[in-house]
Amino acid sequence: MSNKRILAGITPSGSTLHIGNYFGFIKPAIELQNRDEETYYFIADLHALTTVQTKETLEKNIEGVVLDYLALGLNPEKSVFFRQSDVPQHSQLAIVLANYVTYGHMQRMHAFKDKLAKGASTESINMGLFNYPILMAADILLYKPSGVPVGEDQRQHVEITRDIAEAFNRAYNTDLFPLPDALIQKATGRIVGTDGERKMSKSLNNTIGIFEDEEVIKKQIMSSFTDPNRKKATDPGRVEGNPVFLYHDLINTDLDEVADLKKRYLAGQVGDVEVKQKLLAAHQKLFAPAREKRQELAANPEMVKQILAAGAEKARRVAQQTMDEVYETIGIKNKLN
Ligand code: TRP
Repeated sequence: MSNKRILAGITPSGSTLHIGNYFGFIKPAIELQNRDEETYYFIADLHALTTVQTKETLEKNIEGVVLDYLALGLNPEKSVFFRQSDVPQHSQLAIVLANYVTYGHMQRMHAFKDKLAKGASTESINMGLFNYPILMAADILLYKPSGVPVGEDQRQHVEITRDIAEAFNRAYNTDLFPLPDALIQKATGRIVGTDGERKMSKSLNNTIGIFEDEEVIKKQIMSSFTDPNRKKATDPGRVEGNPVFLYHDLINTDLDEVADLKKRYLAGQVGDVEVKQKLLAAHQKLFAPAREKRQELAANPEMVKQILAAGAEKARRVAQQTMDEVYETIGIKNKLN
């Protein structure tokens, strides 16, 4: 095993998964577990408090995201999978790190500035949101990863993490914290929604789900935009930029079928309905194992609990090692401990 380590955090903020999240972030992030690096994946449940402040909702969101990731192939034998709140060192390190970043620097963070730009006032923005990048820096630096897979929207947070690590290292003339790289998942943001225009997103209601009832997914697929200029099945159609074919390329593992559909579409020899029905069938085939696995896990909370407990134990060991180093470096640990 190489000494490289990858760490990914997942916020249980409650949005139901869709194929855009899956192909844009989850699949590439999960596949990292098959490479040389050690992989750590955690549920950032404390981070969710910035927006989710209803007990039942948070409970449900956490369970949902744990099941989603395990069902979609996160393998707890290969990766360390745990919950942030099960590793108290995250909170401890955040308290320390807050002293190595200035108020002015924190004010320049996007998430905070965006809220202000959208009309929120500093009276309504909670300190959890303001401090978000500090807790995130703690999440990351505890494990000293070389890379952190994130979407483009999180790039700045990783930069703040690097700034904090650098400031700390400089203050104590140490190299305790290696500077992590943001591994930006290029596909994120590119997967177009079923409206054929905007990025696939729950709030735009242009998604294709993964774990929803079959009827829901069928409706999502059958109502997707295709080539707006094509009136009849006998008109030659456009394949490039056509959302339904983009989804075929992602979902359909039968490459001959996809090639045949494209050829006939270009020639005006196939209707939208057939293209969509085949897409639905491909979706069912690709996600059937994950859907089944998710049901199994949901029926087996004890098993899930054990997975998370084992992950937390491994994570705590690494995290405590870093905390010891930190306390020693800053002078909290001294001859009286
Ligand atoms: N902020 C990240 C997001 O919203 C989630 C997250 C929290 C995270 N802590 C992290 C990601 C640490 C990577 C590393 O997507």
